[in-house]
Amino acid sequence: MVIEVREALFADAEGILQVLNPIIETGLYSAMKTPLTLAEQRAFLAGFTKRGVFIVAADGETLVGLQSIEPAPGRSADPEIGEISTFVRLGSHRRGIGRALHAQTLLGAKARGYRTLIATIRADNPRALAYYRSLGFVKTARWDEGDSSVVRTEIQVSTETT
Ligand SMILES: CC(C)(COP(=O)(O)OP(=O)(O)OC[C@H]1O[C@@H](n2cnc3c(N)ncnc32)[C@H](O)[C@@H]1OP(=O)(O)O)[C@@H](O)C(=O)NCCC(=O)NCCS
Repeated sequence: MVIEVREALFADAEGILQVLNPIIETGLYSAMKTPLTLAEQRAFLAGFTKRGVFIVAADGETLVGLQSIEPAPGRSADPEIGEISTFVRLGSHRRGIGRALHAQTLLGAKARGYRTLIATIRADNPRALAYYRSLGFVKTARWDEGDSSVVRTEIQVSTETT
């Protein structure tokens, strides 16, 4: 498996859905409840903020993961804080794809001037908690949201280039 990690393109919309929708359909990992349509995903990509970072991992023609950063909701007054989310294709977990995505995403985060990245994770999602912890994120809050608890973890983006 040779994984290419690169910026998402508009043409990736269908491949992104093939990663994302099966994860949503499990009902286990994401706050999202309804699979996205191709039109919705295309609209999202077309309108994706220039402040954002959207990285995909591809195994040949097949997308196997995605990670994005957007200005944190409700914190748009602070351009240095970004909300990160990550999805790796079911069946391809624990092969280093998430780690590879994050290495590239961090470069984008630095280039766009983010100082803090926030990941909001369901408390009943231990693999995501372990994943973000392995990247250096630390838990800063926990609260109830709908029918589950969520945990906020954060990492400071180093501005050093090495
Ligand atoms: C969380 C997720 C993105 C991790 O991606 P991944 O490609 O499987 O992660 P990696 O293989 O790069 O793992 C990197 C490190 O994270 C930790 N980690 C990842 N999955 C883990 C697991 N199931 N159990 C324990 N630690 C885990 C480990 O420290 C791992 O390093 P190691 O394998 O050398 O020990 C992936 O499991 C996923 O897409 N889950 C469903 C969607 C989701 O929950 N997204 C997060 C909410 S936004």
